[in-house]
Amino acid sequence: MNNNDVFILAIESSCDDTSAAVLKNDKVLSNVVANQKIHEEYGGVVPELASRAHQQNIVPVVHQALHRANIDKNKLSAIAFTRGPGLMGSLLVGTSFAKSLSMGLDIPLIDVNHMQAHILAHFIDEPEFPKPEFPFLALTISGGHTQIVLVKDFFDMEVIGETIDDAVGEAFDKSAKVLGLPYPGGPLIDRNAKEGNPKAFEFPIPKVGELNFSFSGLKTSILYFVEKSLEQDPEFIEKNMNDICASIQYTIVEILMKKLRKAVKITGINRIAICGGVSANSGIRNRLKKAEGDYGWTTYIPKFEYTTDNAAMIGIVGYHKFLNKDFTDETATAQARFSL
Ligand code: KG4
Ligand code: ZN
Repeated sequence: MNNNDVFILAIESSCDDTSAAVLKNDKVLSNVVANQKIHEEYGGVVPELASRAHQQNIVPVVHQALHRANIDKNKLSAIAFTRGPGLMGSLLVGTSFAKSLSMGLDIPLIDVNHMQAHILAHFIDEPEFPKPEFPFLALTISGGHTQIVLVKDFFDMEVIGETIDDAVGEAFDKSAKVLGLPYPGGPLIDRNAKEGNPKAFEFPIPKVGELNFSFSGLKTSILYFVEKSLEQDPEFIEKNMNDICASIQYTIVEILMKKLRKAVKITGINRIAICGGVSANSGIRNRLKKAEGDYGWTTYIPKFEYTTDNAAMIGIVGYHKFLNKDFTDETATAQARFSL
């Protein structure tokens, strides 16, 4: 071990995943994620149940992360935690735990913006995944956000486009619900889409200004389309599941690609990184890879485990803030809304 090595324990609890990670500099030693199954039966995240589950999970998840990293807590250089944005009751659990631990160990505390973390996950050291060169465009697509961000440096980011209503992840999850699929439906649409025809059904591409997105109209048109089709054939969904999923996914990917092309045109930047839970989607991954040949873009697709919510991405922000000596203190409060 080198004396200059930085060991960060990172904690993420913004929504329904309790996660802890240990990083040695920009390398991940462990990244433990406890998913909360409880929300499945409600068809969406129930905030009250999420914070209770975080309370139960946080201690074992942190222990597990330290154990897998094979590091004693006294070796840690700092504690990083998600301050926001997210569900208040969920954020409070991670925030309070991180504060107490940093006070107990007498080491610095680092607050992290969850949206910045989704983007900076690309800077985790992984041999097969090259780090983006600044400036680049980040397409952040998750269950709560849809943004195009101009990333000029680690902590110099500007949102240049965002959704005016639902996030992409919501569009996936709500469409899945219409088809009777359990929550979260995004990964299931992805799985079914692999077996279906993306041109089987046509859904409208919304018209919204500049680099903004809208997904609420798509959700409504899918709902009406399915209701009408069921009137004619009560088994319509079962018979056409794969084709419906492939067509929904194709439309969502088209909407995203259309805005990305526009963003490249406006900014003149053709390095594109996708981030957030929906960047796990195979449709957007494949389409973006294809864009390298089609448009000459350089694209960055994160390692699968750093797409959906995880603490490793909080840890990489913690590491860079540690290098800048950008610390917070025990007065830090969770922020449900927290801009970039
Ligand atoms: O980033 P994330 O884990 O949580 C938020 O911060 O929101 O994103 C979760 C979202 C959910 O809407 C989930 O359905 C979606 O990401 N998602 C996917 C896939 N994997 C996760 N959507 C489409 N295809 C996938 N493979
Ligand atoms: Zn997220």
